[in-house]
Amino acid sequence: MIPLDNAARWLPRLDKCAKRYLNGEELAKYYEMPADDRNAQLSALFSAPIARFTAVNEAYFRARWGEALDLLHPEGPFTLLEVASGDADMIPQCMARLHPGSRYITSNMNELLNKSLLQKTKGLPLSFQLISDDAANILAHLPDGQADIIAFQHAVNDVLQAILCEREGVDTVYSDWMDTLPAMIRMLQWEVDAGTLEESVRSPFMALMGSLWGALRTGGHAVINHYMFQLDLDWGYPPYLFENMLAMVRPWLQELAGAREIRLNDFNPQWWIILQKN
Ligand SMILES: C[S@@+](CC[C@H](N)C(=O)[O-])C[C@H]1O[C@@H](n2cnc3c(N)ncnc32)[C@H](O)[C@@H]1O
Repeated sequence: MIPLDNAARWLPRLDKCAKRYLNGEELAKYYEMPADDRNAQLSALFSAPIARFTAVNEAYFRARWGEALDLLHPEGPFTLLEVASGDADMIPQCMARLHPGSRYITSNMNELLNKSLLQKTKGLPLSFQLISDDAANILAHLPDGQADIIAFQHAVNDVLQAILCEREGVDTVYSDWMDTLPAMIRMLQWEVDAGTLEESVRSPFMALMGSLWGALRTGGHAVINHYMFQLDLDWGYPPYLFENMLAMVRPWLQELAGAREIRLNDFNPQWWIILQKN
């Protein structure tokens, strides 16, 4: 696998990131693990699809997003719109430490994951808005360019999977996402085998991106990251597609009107796409 990140850069600052980005309970769990184990976990996180979920992952991903957001928006509190967050809370957790008082908005369709996200983010010092709707409809909720940043935190795959589900009449709003995942993976397998994935998803994905672009202020950024889970691969997720998800959508995004890709040092384009609105 192309390494997710640079261990030599992150190992020496993992403890500092944990102290900054974890709450008391999480930090206690972090220190329950021996230092060698924590370092081995971080190295594994960078060199193989994710198979363990511990406080090491949380410290790293929150700090990684903190670094990206700080570089792109150094001025202070900002408005961030996350697309398809599910109940992954690393961005709101990161924002609460980086710039308390910022505005976090998520457009996320799944009801169970919305409930779980609200629970996980309760009490964070942020203005928090949950839009339980398809991000393709974002302009009905945020009509003008209010967002400084639009974030896809490991979400391109989910958006594409939901597009296939909608076409096939598979519910992703009221169902348990993990129960539906095997059917999603089967759809991806068919599409990859038939060579029809791009034809099936590109146009709805780009329509969604076009709507999101209307919710972003001029000069603002879309930040897209990706990584792989071992479980999805074990369940048959096409491995080349999973690893090269961003390489697939990058040329599509190059056709997004008013957008240009920028590169940041130390953010590997295999796992990150950063777009700026002209
Ligand atoms: C597995 S979850 C979590 C994804 C999360 N980004 C992560 O860390 O992997 C997938 C979520 O994507 C949401 N989703 C997929 N397509 C969406 C869309 N077009 N608009 C809003 N939410 C969407 C689903 O409703 C679900 O809650």
